Amino acid sequence: MPFGRFWGSTIGKKVVMAVTGIVLVGYILAHVTANLLIFVGPSAIDGYAASLRTLPVLLWGVRVLLLVSVVLHVVAATQLAVLARAARPTAYQRFVPQASSSASRTMRWGGVALLLFLVYHILHFTTGQAHSDFIHLAPYHNITTAFRVWWVAGIYVVAMVALAMHLYHGTWSMFQTLGIEHERVNAARRRFATIIAVAVPLGFVSVPIAVLLGALR
Ligand code: HEM
Repeated sequence: MPFGRFWGSTIGKKVVMAVTGIVLVGYILAHVTANLLIFVGPSAIDGYAASLRTLPVLLWGVRVLLLVSVVLHVVAATQLAVLARAARPTAYQRFVPQASSSASRTMRWGGVALLLFLVYHILHFTTGQAHSDFIHLAPYHNITTAFRVWWVAGIYVVAMVALAMHLYHGTWSMFQTLGIEHERVNAARRRFATIIAVAVPLGFVSVPIAVLLGALR
């Protein structure tokens, strides 16, 4: 099937969301693992950041892949939301929220919140404009000085709650779209979605919490 027709169909957009979702979850898993190097010490995490720069082709390849994935994920989600609305031309007389629509509302607003977080996060830790004491290629310093400020740590904690919800519903729907859906596999599917949605955000929030508690200085 040509890509135009595939993209034009609802299932095509859902498959694009599932595949780009897998790319983004893969990146997030690598990112949270790398972040935990901060507990090994400044040279471990700073050394890791420096080593990424020794392979500019890989670094920029990953950045381009991420950017394309985020754009396709957001555009497909927006178009699916518009199509869902168009399928229901008259507003409900009395709106009674259903479990499924509450999950999709959480995904939409949570997705918007994560996108805003990502813009702030890149200005904060990659380019430094949103950081008051940024040093290029010194993530240990940048992270520990940032999270000493309680409200900055708070922004990250709130964003990780949004990430947990997005990962849970997203992982669950991804299996559905890819046809991995059967009475026999649904329990394993739910367990997998729960593990990802709990372990990844916990790994991320452990860093701001450790700084706030004085365990990382
Ligand atoms: C407490 C949580 C987090 C911390 C402490 C953290 C830390 C960092 C740091 C220090 C950098 C700069 C790395 C460098 O320049 O070498 C970075 C970059 C980045 N982070 Fe995070 N991060 C967190 C959560 C997240 C989350 C949840 C996402 C995605 C939803 C994310 C996505 C990114 C992206 C896309 C970049 C830019 C990578 C690049 O420049 O190539 N981060 N993060």
